[in-house]
Amino acid sequence: MTRFDILSIFPEMFESFFGCSLLKKARDKGLIRIEAHNIRDGATDKHRMTDDYPYGGGAGMVMKVEPIARVLEAIGANPGECLRILLTPQGETFNQAIAGELARAGRIVLICGHYEGVDERVRENLADRELSIGDYILTGGEAAAMTVVDAVARLIPGVLGNEESARHESFATGLLESPQYTRPEEFRGWKVPEVLLSGHHREIETWRRREALRRTLLRRPELLAGASLTEQDRRILEELKKES
Ligand code: ADE
Repeated sequence: MTRFDILSIFPEMFESFFGCSLLKKARDKGLIRIEAHNIRDGATDKHRMTDDYPYGGGAGMVMKVEPIARVLEAIGANPGECLRILLTPQGETFNQAIAGELARAGRIVLICGHYEGVDERVRENLADRELSIGDYILTGGEAAAMTVVDAVARLIPGVLGNEESARHESFATGLLESPQYTRPEEFRGWKVPEVLLSGHHREIETWRRREALRRTLLRRPELLAGASLTEQDRRILEELKKES
């Protein structure tokens, strides 16, 4: 059982996202536990403030350290007993390899920032790691926390119905996936490639590998450097380069 705790000023945002689909099934099966906690519950002043003006002046508000520290304590998210992650555009860029690492942690705590930023003391004293989901700015860390939990949870054994599909997919092999089709064979004159209907498993595998290489070469050539390629793959890549 992997446990995820999310600290947010909008914990209700997570209800529908984690209440549907594979993640709901995984929770119902007891494979994962996900809990969203309100940072406001850690505020002790009469207005239950979670943000305040920046010292030194300037625009916008800064998230306070105290409410976050108190909620972490209340849920027993102690250093060394869980991995505390701050979601911030300044963090290390999240990717499939990091998702794989996190899938081996027993308990992950995600802290969602807001406003112009978070008091630096959160980063320094209350977070083990900082993650960004990409080079763009969100209104808050919530969509980033959903992204991280989703990507990590599906790597936990038993969460995906079909373990095979995780092994073949883009990034697991280091290549983009080959095109996929389902019924009908023809729709408005748009046809499924003949080879996929042939029943020749060897030919189908060869075709899929070639198309995965083609797609990666055209769209994400930088991934080829990190992919494990056979001699045959390299020959195909040379052909594809000549074709284009
Ligand atoms: N908060 C705002 N933007 C973010 C991003 N890109 N990644 C993680 N947290 C964020």
